[in-house]
Amino acid sequence: PALTLDEQADLLPYDRSFEFPRDKLKLGKQLGAGAFGVVLKAHAEGIRPDEKETVVAVKMVKRIADNEVMRALVTELKILVHLGPNLNVVNLLGAVTKNIAKRELMVIVEYCRYGNLQNFLLRNRERFINQINPETDKIDPTIIKQRFSDNFELRGNSDNDPRSGTRPGRPNSSGYLRQSDLYEGQMDSCATEQTVMTTIPEDDDHILSNNSIQPAWRSNYKPDSTEAMTITTTDLVSYAFQVARGMDYLSSRKVLHGDLAARNILLCENNIVKICDFGLARSMYKSENYKKQGEAPLPIKWLALESFSDHIFSTYTDVWSFGIVLWEFFSLAKVPYPGMEPNQSLYLKIKDGYRMEKPPFANDELYDIMLECWSANPESRPLFNVLEKYFARMLGDDV
Ligand code: ADE
Repeated sequence: PALTLDEQADLLPYDRSFEFPRDKLKLGKQLGAGAFGVVLKAHAEGIRPDEKETVVAVKMVKRIADNEVMRALVTELKILVHLGPNLNVVNLLGAVTKNIAKRELMVIVEYCRYGNLQNFLLRNRERFINQINPETDKIDPTIIKQRFSDNFELRGNSDNDPRSGTRPGRPNSSGYLRQSDLYEGQMDSCATEQTVMTTIPEDDDHILSNNSIQPAWRSNYKPDSTEAMTITTTDLVSYAFQVARGMDYLSSRKVLHGDLAARNILLCENNIVKICDFGLARSMYKSENYKKQGEAPLPIKWLALESFSDHIFSTYTDVWSFGIVLWEFFSLAKVPYPGMEPNQSLYLKIKDGYRMEKPPFANDELYDIMLECWSANPESRPLFNVLEKYFARMLGDDV
Protein backbone atom coordinates (compact mmCIF):
# COMPACT_ATOMS: atom_id res chain seq x y z
CA PRO A 1 0.00 0.00 0.00
CA ALA A 2 1.09 3.56 -0.67
CA LEU A 3 2.56 5.51 2.21
CA THR A 4 0.84 8.55 3.60
CA LEU A 5 2.67 11.85 3.40
CA ASP A 6 3.61 11.63 7.07
CA GLU A 7 4.94 8.12 6.66
CA GLN A 8 6.94 9.22 3.64
CA ALA A 9 8.31 12.16 5.58
CA ASP A 10 9.31 9.89 8.45
CA LEU A 11 11.57 8.10 6.02
CA LEU A 12 13.03 11.33 4.68
CA PRO A 13 16.14 12.77 6.26
CA TYR A 14 16.58 16.33 7.46
CA ASP A 15 19.67 17.93 6.05
CA ARG A 16 21.68 19.58 8.88
CA SER A 17 23.20 22.04 6.46
CA PHE A 18 19.87 23.89 6.50
CA GLU A 19 20.17 24.61 10.22
CA PHE A 20 20.17 28.36 10.77
CA PRO A 21 21.20 30.16 13.98
CA ARG A 22 18.16 31.53 15.79
CA ASP A 23 20.01 34.71 16.81
CA LYS A 24 20.62 35.70 13.20
CA LEU A 25 16.88 35.83 12.57
CA LYS A 26 14.99 39.06 13.30
CA LEU A 27 11.27 38.34 13.32
CA GLY A 28 8.94 41.00 11.96
CA LYS A 29 5.29 41.44 11.24
CA GLN A 30 2.76 38.74 10.67
CA LEU A 31 2.05 37.77 7.07
CA GLY A 32 -0.54 35.15 7.85
CA ALA A 33 -1.96 33.29 10.77
CA GLY A 34 -4.40 30.60 11.61
CA ALA A 35 -5.51 28.56 14.54
CA PHE A 36 -2.16 26.85 15.06
CA GLY A 37 0.47 28.46 12.93
CA VAL A 38 1.83 31.80 11.90
CA VAL A 39 3.89 33.07 9.01
CA LEU A 40 6.06 36.04 9.87
CA LYS A 41 8.15 38.33 7.75
CA ALA A 42 11.73 38.31 8.99
CA HIS A 43 15.27 39.38 8.26
CA ALA A 44 17.89 36.67 8.14
CA GLU A 45 21.56 37.61 8.36
CA GLY A 46 23.79 35.70 5.98
CA ILE A 47 21.24 33.13 4.89
CA ARG A 48 22.18 33.67 1.26
CA PRO A 49 25.86 33.75 0.38
CA ASP A 50 25.48 36.81 -1.85
CA GLU A 51 23.63 39.02 0.63
CA LYS A 52 24.34 40.43 4.07
CA GLU A 53 20.70 40.28 5.02
CA THR A 54 17.72 38.68 3.31
CA VAL A 55 14.00 39.27 3.73
CA VAL A 56 12.42 35.89 4.39
CA ALA A 57 9.16 34.32 5.52
CA VAL A 58 9.23 32.20 8.67
CA LYS A 59 6.63 29.58 9.33
CA MET A 60 6.23 28.44 12.90
CA VAL A 61 3.70 26.80 15.17
CA LYS A 62 1.89 28.61 17.93
CA ARG A 63 2.53 27.63 21.51
CA ILE A 64 -0.88 26.00 21.86
CA ALA A 65 -0.19 23.73 18.90
CA ASP A 66 -0.42 20.00 19.52
CA ASN A 67 1.88 17.25 18.33
CA GLU A 68 -0.09 16.78 15.16
CA VAL A 69 0.57 20.36 14.11
CA MET A 70 4.25 20.13 15.01
CA ARG A 71 4.44 16.98 13.00
CA ALA A 72 2.78 18.64 10.04
CA LEU A 73 5.46 21.34 10.00
CA VAL A 74 8.22 18.73 10.33
CA THR A 75 6.64 16.94 7.36
CA GLU A 76 6.64 20.11 5.32
CA LEU A 77 10.25 20.85 6.24
CA LYS A 78 11.37 17.40 5.19
CA ILE A 79 9.44 17.59 1.96
CA LEU A 80 11.05 20.96 1.21
CA VAL A 81 14.51 19.47 1.87
CA HIS A 82 13.68 16.54 -0.39
CA LEU A 83 12.28 18.77 -3.13
CA GLY A 84 15.29 20.95 -3.68
CA PRO A 85 15.14 24.34 -5.37
CA ASN A 86 12.84 25.24 -8.23
CA LEU A 87 11.88 28.65 -9.59
CA ASN A 88 8.16 28.03 -9.23
CA VAL A 89 8.20 26.59 -5.74
CA VAL A 90 8.65 28.58 -2.54
CA ASN A 91 12.14 27.44 -1.69
CA LEU A 92 13.53 26.47 1.66
CA LEU A 93 16.31 28.75 2.89
CA GLY A 94 16.87 27.35 6.35
CA ALA A 95 15.32 26.04 9.53
CA VAL A 96 15.67 26.36 13.27
CA THR A 97 15.18 22.88 14.70
CA LYS A 98 17.57 22.73 17.64
CA ASN A 99 14.89 23.52 20.23
CA ILE A 100 12.31 21.26 18.70
CA ALA A 101 11.85 19.44 22.02
CA LYS A 102 10.61 22.75 23.41
CA ARG A 103 8.23 23.02 20.48
CA GLU A 104 10.29 25.66 18.77
CA LEU A 105 10.46 24.96 15.07
CA MET A 106 10.95 27.56 12.38
CA VAL A 107 10.89 26.93 8.67
CA ILE A 108 12.50 29.74 6.71
CA VAL A 109 11.41 30.18 3.10
CA GLU A 110 11.66 32.74 0.35
CA TYR A 111 9.60 35.85 0.83
CA CYS A 112 7.10 36.76 -1.91
CA ARG A 113 6.19 40.38 -1.62
CA TYR A 114 2.82 40.41 -3.36
CA GLY A 115 1.33 37.68 -1.20
CA ASN A 116 -1.04 35.02 -2.46
CA LEU A 117 -2.68 35.17 -5.87
CA GLN A 118 -6.20 34.93 -4.57
CA ASN A 119 -5.88 38.20 -2.69
CA PHE A 120 -3.72 39.75 -5.39
CA LEU A 121 -6.31 39.10 -8.10
CA LEU A 122 -9.14 40.34 -5.91
CA ARG A 123 -7.27 43.47 -4.98
CA ASN A 124 -6.45 44.34 -8.57
CA ARG A 125 -9.51 43.08 -10.45
CA GLU A 126 -10.54 46.65 -11.25
CA ARG A 127 -7.32 47.02 -13.20
CA PHE A 128 -7.74 43.88 -15.27
CA ILE A 129 -7.10 44.15 -19.00
CA ASN A 130 -9.03 41.56 -20.94
CA GLN A 131 -6.98 40.67 -24.01
CA ILE A 132 -9.40 38.17 -25.46
CA ASN A 133 -10.57 39.36 -28.84
CA PRO A 134 -14.32 38.69 -28.87
CA GLU A 135 -14.34 38.05 -32.62
CA THR A 136 -11.55 35.52 -32.84
CA ASP A 137 -11.71 34.29 -29.20
CA LYS A 138 -7.90 34.47 -29.26
CA ILE A 139 -5.64 36.21 -26.80
CA ASP A 140 -4.28 39.37 -28.36
CA PRO A 141 -1.34 40.58 -26.25
CA THR A 142 -1.23 43.83 -28.18
CA ILE A 143 -4.45 44.91 -26.51
CA ILE A 144 -3.15 47.00 -23.68
CA LYS A 145 -5.80 49.45 -22.75
CA GLN A 146 -7.02 51.06 -19.64
CA ARG A 147 -10.47 51.88 -18.55
CA PHE A 148 -10.45 55.62 -18.31
CA SER A 149 -12.19 57.55 -15.61
CA ASP A 150 -11.56 60.92 -14.01
CA ASN A 151 -9.97 59.44 -10.97
CA PHE A 152 -8.16 56.72 -12.81
CA GLU A 153 -4.62 56.47 -11.74
CA LEU A 154 -2.05 53.83 -12.36
CA ARG A 155 0.22 53.51 -9.44
CA GLY A 156 2.82 51.35 -7.91
CA ASN A 157 5.60 50.22 -10.12
CA SER A 158 8.79 48.77 -8.97
CA ASP A 159 11.70 49.33 -11.28
CA ASN A 160 12.27 45.81 -12.37
CA ASP A 161 8.64 44.86 -12.69
CA PRO A 162 7.83 44.00 -16.28
CA ARG A 163 4.41 45.52 -15.87
CA SER A 164 5.76 48.87 -14.85
CA GLY A 165 5.93 50.10 -18.42
CA THR A 166 2.27 51.03 -18.40
CA ARG A 167 1.80 54.69 -17.72
CA PRO A 168 -1.46 56.50 -18.07
CA GLY A 169 -1.63 58.58 -21.20
CA ARG A 170 -4.42 60.52 -22.81
CA PRO A 171 -7.50 58.52 -23.57
CA ASN A 172 -8.78 58.22 -27.09
CA SER A 173 -12.38 58.89 -27.94
CA SER A 174 -13.47 55.48 -26.80
CA GLY A 175 -12.21 56.16 -23.32
CA TYR A 176 -9.53 53.53 -23.67
CA LEU A 177 -5.86 53.82 -23.99
CA ARG A 178 -4.18 51.93 -26.72
CA GLN A 179 -0.76 50.46 -26.53
CA SER A 180 0.49 53.20 -28.80
CA ASP A 181 -0.86 55.81 -26.39
CA LEU A 182 0.65 54.13 -23.41
CA TYR A 183 4.08 53.69 -24.78
CA GLU A 184 4.23 56.92 -26.72
CA GLY A 185 5.76 55.39 -29.77
CA GLN A 186 8.29 53.24 -28.00
CA MET A 187 6.59 50.19 -29.33
CA ASP A 188 5.01 49.35 -32.62
CA SER A 189 1.50 50.61 -32.74
CA CYS A 190 -0.20 47.32 -33.28
CA ALA A 191 -3.19 47.50 -31.00
CA THR A 192 -6.38 46.61 -32.75
CA GLU A 193 -9.09 49.20 -33.10
CA GLN A 194 -11.71 47.12 -31.40
CA THR A 195 -11.68 47.33 -27.67
CA VAL A 196 -13.26 45.10 -25.11
CA MET A 197 -14.99 46.58 -22.13
CA THR A 198 -13.60 45.03 -19.03
CA THR A 199 -16.50 44.64 -16.71
CA ILE A 200 -16.09 43.05 -13.35
CA PRO A 201 -19.12 40.98 -12.44
CA GLU A 202 -20.86 41.50 -9.16
CA ASP A 203 -19.47 39.20 -6.57
CA ASP A 204 -22.20 36.85 -5.53
CA ASP A 205 -19.79 34.93 -3.40
CA HIS A 206 -17.61 37.23 -1.46
CA ILE A 207 -14.19 35.82 -0.89
CA LEU A 208 -14.38 36.01 2.84
CA SER A 209 -17.72 34.25 3.05
CA ASN A 210 -17.76 31.13 5.18
CA ASN A 211 -17.18 28.78 2.33
CA SER A 212 -13.76 30.12 1.55
CA ILE A 213 -11.17 27.87 3.06
CA GLN A 214 -9.04 29.24 5.82
CA PRO A 215 -6.91 26.47 7.25
CA ALA A 216 -4.62 27.05 10.14
CA TRP A 217 -1.76 28.63 8.23
CA ARG A 218 -3.54 30.70 5.76
CA SER A 219 -6.30 32.78 7.23
CA ASN A 220 -5.89 36.54 7.47
CA TYR A 221 -3.07 36.79 4.95
CA LYS A 222 -1.75 40.29 5.02
CA PRO A 223 0.25 40.85 1.89
CA ASP A 224 3.17 43.14 2.31
CA SER A 225 2.71 45.02 -0.89
CA THR A 226 -0.78 46.22 -1.63
CA GLU A 227 0.23 48.59 -4.36
CA ALA A 228 -2.06 48.69 -7.35
CA MET A 229 -1.05 46.63 -10.36
CA THR A 230 -2.56 46.01 -13.73
CA ILE A 231 -3.16 42.40 -14.69
CA THR A 232 -3.63 41.18 -18.24
CA THR A 233 -4.92 37.93 -19.70
CA THR A 234 -1.32 37.20 -20.67
CA ASP A 235 -0.30 37.52 -17.01
CA LEU A 236 -2.96 34.98 -16.05
CA VAL A 237 -1.72 32.55 -18.72
CA SER A 238 1.84 33.11 -17.51
CA TYR A 239 0.77 32.28 -13.94
CA ALA A 240 -0.94 29.13 -15.24
CA PHE A 241 2.19 28.16 -17.14
CA GLN A 242 4.41 28.68 -14.12
CA VAL A 243 2.12 26.76 -11.77
CA ALA A 244 2.03 23.85 -14.25
CA ARG A 245 5.84 23.97 -14.43
CA GLY A 246 6.18 24.03 -10.64
CA MET A 247 3.69 21.18 -10.31
CA ASP A 248 5.52 19.22 -12.99
CA TYR A 249 8.62 19.57 -10.85
CA LEU A 250 6.72 18.47 -7.74
CA SER A 251 5.31 15.43 -9.48
CA SER A 252 8.73 14.54 -10.92
CA ARG A 253 9.95 14.50 -7.32
CA LYS A 254 6.97 12.31 -6.39
CA VAL A 255 5.47 14.92 -4.12
CA LEU A 256 1.74 15.52 -4.03
CA HIS A 257 0.43 18.89 -3.16
CA GLY A 258 -3.04 17.96 -2.02
CA ASP A 259 -4.21 21.54 -1.61
CA LEU A 260 -3.44 23.36 -4.82
CA ALA A 261 -5.48 26.58 -4.86
CA ALA A 262 -4.89 30.25 -5.70
CA ARG A 263 -4.49 30.98 -1.98
CA ASN A 264 -1.45 28.66 -1.99
CA ILE A 265 0.32 30.36 -4.85
CA LEU A 266 2.46 33.39 -4.07
CA LEU A 267 3.50 36.22 -6.36
CA CYS A 268 7.03 37.62 -6.28
CA GLU A 269 8.93 40.25 -8.20
CA ASN A 270 9.09 40.00 -11.98
CA ASN A 271 5.71 38.27 -12.22
CA ILE A 272 7.16 35.05 -10.87
CA VAL A 273 4.71 32.81 -9.06
CA LYS A 274 5.62 30.14 -6.54
CA ILE A 275 3.65 27.24 -5.15
CA CYS A 276 3.63 27.01 -1.37
CA ASP A 277 2.17 24.98 1.49
CA PHE A 278 2.67 21.48 0.21
CA GLY A 279 2.47 18.56 2.48
CA LEU A 280 1.33 20.57 5.39
CA ALA A 281 -2.31 20.87 4.51
CA ARG A 282 -2.73 17.16 3.96
CA SER A 283 -1.63 16.29 7.44
CA MET A 284 -3.78 19.00 8.88
CA TYR A 285 -6.97 17.41 7.60
CA LYS A 286 -6.27 14.29 9.53
CA SER A 287 -6.16 16.14 12.78
CA GLU A 288 -9.37 15.64 14.73
CA ASN A 289 -8.48 18.71 16.67
CA TYR A 290 -8.39 20.72 13.55
CA LYS A 291 -11.71 19.46 12.35
CA LYS A 292 -13.34 20.46 15.58
CA GLN A 293 -12.42 24.05 14.91
CA GLY A 294 -15.08 24.07 12.25
CA GLU A 295 -12.87 26.10 9.95
CA ALA A 296 -13.67 24.26 6.74
CA PRO A 297 -10.77 21.82 6.98
CA LEU A 298 -11.19 20.20 3.57
CA PRO A 299 -10.95 22.25 0.41
CA ILE A 300 -14.11 20.60 -0.89
CA LYS A 301 -14.45 22.83 -3.93
CA TRP A 302 -10.90 22.01 -5.08
CA LEU A 303 -11.20 18.25 -4.58
CA ALA A 304 -11.29 15.70 -7.38
CA LEU A 305 -14.20 13.29 -7.34
CA GLU A 306 -12.10 10.39 -6.11
CA SER A 307 -10.53 12.51 -3.33
CA PHE A 308 -13.98 13.35 -2.08
CA SER A 309 -15.39 9.83 -2.28
CA ASP A 310 -12.40 7.61 -1.57
CA HIS A 311 -9.81 9.98 -0.04
CA ILE A 312 -7.50 9.23 -2.92
CA PHE A 313 -4.82 11.84 -3.56
CA SER A 314 -2.50 11.58 -6.54
CA THR A 315 -0.91 13.72 -9.20
CA TYR A 316 -4.19 13.24 -11.09
CA THR A 317 -6.12 14.81 -8.24
CA ASP A 318 -3.62 17.68 -8.16
CA VAL A 319 -4.45 18.17 -11.85
CA TRP A 320 -8.15 18.43 -11.02
CA SER A 321 -7.33 21.10 -8.43
CA PHE A 322 -5.18 22.84 -11.03
CA GLY A 323 -8.31 23.08 -13.21
CA ILE A 324 -10.09 24.80 -10.32
CA VAL A 325 -7.09 27.14 -9.96
CA LEU A 326 -7.44 28.04 -13.64
CA TRP A 327 -11.09 28.83 -13.02
CA GLU A 328 -10.03 31.03 -10.09
CA PHE A 329 -7.49 32.86 -12.26
CA PHE A 330 -9.88 33.52 -15.14
CA SER A 331 -12.67 34.63 -12.85
CA LEU A 332 -10.23 36.93 -11.04
CA ALA A 333 -10.49 34.99 -7.80
CA LYS A 334 -14.14 34.29 -7.45
CA VAL A 335 -14.98 31.44 -5.11
CA PRO A 336 -15.50 28.29 -7.20
CA TYR A 337 -19.03 26.97 -7.66
CA PRO A 338 -20.54 30.41 -6.88
CA GLY A 339 -23.56 30.31 -4.65
CA MET A 340 -23.17 26.61 -3.90
CA GLU A 341 -22.38 25.11 -0.53
CA PRO A 342 -19.30 22.89 -0.29
CA ASN A 343 -21.12 19.74 0.73
CA GLN A 344 -22.18 16.25 -0.27
CA SER A 345 -24.85 17.47 -2.70
CA LEU A 346 -22.24 19.47 -4.62
CA TYR A 347 -20.21 16.28 -4.85
CA LEU A 348 -23.23 14.34 -6.12
CA LYS A 349 -23.87 16.98 -8.77
CA ILE A 350 -20.28 16.80 -9.96
CA LYS A 351 -20.42 13.01 -9.92
CA ASP A 352 -23.51 13.34 -12.08
CA GLY A 353 -21.50 15.25 -14.66
CA TYR A 354 -22.07 18.83 -13.57
CA ARG A 355 -19.11 21.19 -14.16
CA MET A 356 -18.61 24.92 -13.65
CA GLU A 357 -19.38 27.23 -16.54
CA LYS A 358 -16.69 29.05 -18.42
CA PRO A 359 -15.39 31.84 -16.16
CA PRO A 360 -15.87 35.41 -17.40
CA PHE A 361 -12.32 36.04 -18.62
CA ALA A 362 -11.47 32.73 -20.29
CA ASN A 363 -11.81 31.80 -23.93
CA ASP A 364 -12.93 28.39 -25.18
CA GLU A 365 -9.37 27.14 -25.47
CA LEU A 366 -8.75 27.83 -21.77
CA TYR A 367 -12.13 26.46 -20.75
CA ASP A 368 -11.46 23.23 -22.67
CA ILE A 369 -8.30 22.78 -20.62
CA MET A 370 -10.29 23.22 -17.41
CA LEU A 371 -12.82 20.62 -18.57
CA GLU A 372 -9.99 18.19 -19.38
CA CYS A 373 -8.61 18.66 -15.86
CA TRP A 374 -12.05 17.80 -14.52
CA SER A 375 -12.37 14.51 -16.40
CA ALA A 376 -14.15 11.92 -14.28
CA ASN A 377 -11.52 9.41 -15.30
CA PRO A 378 -8.27 10.47 -13.59
CA GLU A 379 -6.11 9.09 -16.38
CA SER A 380 -7.90 11.19 -18.97
CA ARG A 381 -6.68 14.36 -17.27
CA PRO A 382 -3.66 16.04 -18.85
CA LEU A 383 -0.39 15.70 -16.93
CA PHE A 384 1.44 18.79 -15.78
CA ASN A 385 4.09 18.56 -18.50
CA VAL A 386 1.32 18.56 -21.10
CA LEU A 387 -0.41 21.50 -19.41
CA GLU A 388 2.90 23.32 -19.38
CA LYS A 389 3.11 22.94 -23.16
CA TYR A 390 -0.47 24.15 -23.70
CA PHE A 391 0.27 27.42 -21.91
CA ALA A 392 3.72 27.79 -23.43
CA ARG A 393 2.09 27.62 -26.85
CA MET A 394 -0.46 30.27 -25.84
CA LEU A 395 2.38 32.49 -24.75
CA GLY A 396 4.06 31.98 -28.09
CA ASP A 397 6.66 29.59 -26.72
CA ASP A 398 8.87 32.54 -25.83
CA VAL A 399 8.82 31.71 -22.14
N1 ADE B 1 2.64 34.47 3.27
C1 ADE B 1 2.85 33.19 3.51
N2 ADE B 1 4.02 32.81 3.05
C2 ADE B 1 4.57 33.88 2.47
C3 ADE B 1 5.79 34.11 1.78
N3 ADE B 1 6.66 33.13 1.62
N4 ADE B 1 6.01 35.33 1.30
C4 ADE B 1 5.11 36.29 1.49
N5 ADE B 1 3.96 36.15 2.10
C5 ADE B 1 3.70 34.94 2.61
